[in-house]
Amino acid sequence: MPHAVGLRCVRCAAEHAAPGAARPVRYACEACGGNLDVVYDYAAVRRELSRASLAADPDHRVWRYRALLPVDAGVDAERLNVSRTPLAAAPALGARLGLPSLWLKDETRHPSASLKDRASAITLAMARARGAEIVAGASTGNAASSLACLAARTGTRAVLFVPESIPSAKLAQILLFGATVIAVRGTYDQAADLCLAACERYGWYDRDTGRNPYTREGKKTAAFEILEQLGWRVPDWVVVSVGDGNILSGLHKGFTDLREVGLVDGIPRLLAVQAEHSDAVKRAFEGDGVIRAVSGVTIADSISVGLPRDGDAAVRALRESDGAAVAVTDDAILDAMRELARTEGLFAEPAAAAAVAGLELATREGRIREAETVVAVVTGSGLKDVASATRAAGAPLTTEPDLDALDEVVRGRIEA
Ligand SMILES: Cc1ncc(COP(=O)(O)O)c(C=O)c1O
Ligand SMILES: [Zn+2]
Repeated sequence: MPHAVGLRCVRCAAEHAAPGAARPVRYACEACGGNLDVVYDYAAVRRELSRASLAADPDHRVWRYRALLPVDAGVDAERLNVSRTPLAAAPALGARLGLPSLWLKDETRHPSASLKDRASAITLAMARARGAEIVAGASTGNAASSLACLAARTGTRAVLFVPESIPSAKLAQILLFGATVIAVRGTYDQAADLCLAACERYGWYDRDTGRNPYTREGKKTAAFEILEQLGWRVPDWVVVSVGDGNILSGLHKGFTDLREVGLVDGIPRLLAVQAEHSDAVKRAFEGDGVIRAVSGVTIADSISVGLPRDGDAAVRALRESDGAAVAVTDDAILDAMRELARTEGLFAEPAAAAAVAGLELATREGRIREAETVVAVVTGSGLKDVASATRAAGAPLTTEPDLDALDEVVRGRIEA
């Protein structure tokens, strides 16, 4: 049973009532315009949730954490079947990085192949509980393909705003799932502003990352799984790439939830990895905490964000977890795509590989040490951006269909 009791402003801590079925969805604090965070009655959750109750539950969908979710999916749980992803030891990559205890959380395995499915499951359940007929969202691509996928499963209409520059595979996913796509001639930030205005004008339910308080509630289930999969051992570091900052703030929420209900004693330090020119969260964290716009230009389209929509909560997550932030170049991201693929057989999109690039940098700089246990979250599949994968991958050897010609091609190139 859900134990969400209200909403609290991330910026000024003002408390707000949760939107009941009759009340409008609330996206921002009335006092200061800040994002809102879902508040739980942790004492009630403690009575319902324990390590033993989780161990006894065979349901591996996100709904196993219903005591700490804002909504019960009811009959929709069958269709909103977003489930546990693997957490695997990464000995070969760990050896390359000098990190013997490295783990990879493989979020490429979801229905639409990115971590965003966790958020879409929860927000769609919220929307459907409210009787919303049309659900909208703006996205660099993954949140949109995710919402389109799960909307198709539940027979919900979806309208999605994306920048016109969206990688073609993500666009194909969204269109194939039958959503209406509004390709905006502009940046992701402009698409997000337009989506917000459209939702206000047309009354659509807005799933927007970083404005809708319930996306964070979905993403936090990745943190729940990490702790369960590590046998309740809290890792020293969890590494994730950051655009709007909502995955980061979601992971932090998940770890603190489980600490508050007494399932673990502490939380991991969080390492935020941003792309070099898309580093507004890093700048704010290392400066005065105020998010200011940057250009947002990077090959890693999913983290190409000028003005992070969940920046306040992201900075808070870094501060409260005694975390750190790094920025990586596009070349380092392409290198990390190759490294991840060749050491661990994991095909990641640039934004997902960025986490590994940042981990490499933080380890080289001595911020993360050999003895520490690290979990890197691989947030989306390489199939989402084939052009970038091709850039990272290089070209094949080419031959005439003839053994002598092949001999010329392979000589000196393939050794036993
Ligand atoms: C694959 C992938 N990685 C990382 C991110 C960054 O998440 P956030 O924008 O919440 O910081 C996204 C967001 O679109 C993503 O799709
Ligand atoms: Zn406020």
